[in-house]
Amino acid sequence: MIKCGLIGYGYWGPNIAQSLTKLTHVNLVSICDLSKGKLREARSLYPQIEVINDYDKLIQNPSINAIIIATPAYTHFDLSYKALREGKHVLIEKPLTINSNQALKLIRLNKKVKKIVMVGHTFEYNPTIRRIKKIIKEDNFGKIYYIYSTRVNLGQIRGDINALWNLAPHDISILNFLLDTTPIEVKATGGSFLQKGIEDVVFALLKYPNNILAEIHVSWLDPVKERSMTVVGSKKMLIFDDLDNEMPLKIYDKRVDTGEVAKGLSTEYKIRLHSGDIYIPQIENKEPLLEELKHFFECIKKNIQPNTDLTNGLKVVRVLEACQQSLSRKNSWIKI
Ligand SMILES: NC(=O)c1ccc[n+]([C@@H]2O[C@H](COP(=O)([O-])OP(=O)(O)OC[C@H]3O[C@@H](n4cnc5c(N)ncnc54)[C@H](O)[C@@H]3O)[C@@H](O)[C@H]2O)c1
Repeated sequence: MIKCGLIGYGYWGPNIAQSLTKLTHVNLVSICDLSKGKLREARSLYPQIEVINDYDKLIQNPSINAIIIATPAYTHFDLSYKALREGKHVLIEKPLTINSNQALKLIRLNKKVKKIVMVGHTFEYNPTIRRIKKIIKEDNFGKIYYIYSTRVNLGQIRGDINALWNLAPHDISILNFLLDTTPIEVKATGGSFLQKGIEDVVFALLKYPNNILAEIHVSWLDPVKERSMTVVGSKKMLIFDDLDNEMPLKIYDKRVDTGEVAKGLSTEYKIRLHSGDIYIPQIENKEPLLEELKHFFECIKKNIQPNTDLTNGLKVVRVLEACQQSLSRKNSWIKI
């Protein structure tokens, strides 16, 4: 039985606590939050679990082996550094840290303490995303030309980080995962309309190796909730709609054939559009957060490196940092 503590019981923490109740070999023994109201909520749902407002006490609790950090991004470094120094395994919510120096310090510390440290890049545990990875690797998908994703809604507006750092970690981790690499250069533009210096909307362009172009649109100031990703390949195309529970993935047998064709004694360059069937694969009904948590505890049990380890988290933070640099340098390309 792994004894676990949860720091942060705001919007996301309760989902983690609820998922933990489904795991038989894990026991959530302590929940910590700074807000009295949040602690009351936790106590009423989980009267058997210790509920406290002192994170140091939770981190120093000798009976706890693993700690999950679901607090705002700017607290991730301090809390996870302390937890690691105390010899705990740690799952840190995305983004890992608010700059790459902090991420590098965690990597250095973990080289000494050798604990299981995982970043909550939930989409890498999403069965549809895993299926997409398989599909786009097949020959009959062709070469990937470009990918774009949209993650917009009205709310949740944050005051500590902008829409890029709050929402785009998901898209960047998905792109890096699907393409098995990281971008070479990025540029971003955005707008701060509600709070000075905090972008509500960001459009980021990412150039990946092999001439693959990606675009990310994130916003918490948009009339309609949209969570989608389109992948355009040379032989097939697909659309992932995360809000469609029945049919989240559609694969289009659509392409453009180009080339020289004989015309009398000379040749002519032709473009021919192909529009075939739409295929809707059946996706396993697995809850991504639960899959992520299972993976974390499995890694602890077997002492193996998580799929979304500290290096994976650092790669995402580096892209975010470069996008942020581009935002402040008026949309210039930034090499990574
Ligand atoms: N993986 C996902 O899909 C996903 C989804 C949503 C949020 N998140 C991440 O989860 C984290 C939390 O996000 P949220 O939306 O719940 O934020 P939130 O602001 O709603 O909640 C954060 C909570 O942490 C508490 N807190 C802050 N500092 C603390 C400290 N030092 N000790 C104890 N409690 C502290 C606050 O009182 C608050 O209740 C963020 O990193 C966010 O990016 C991940």
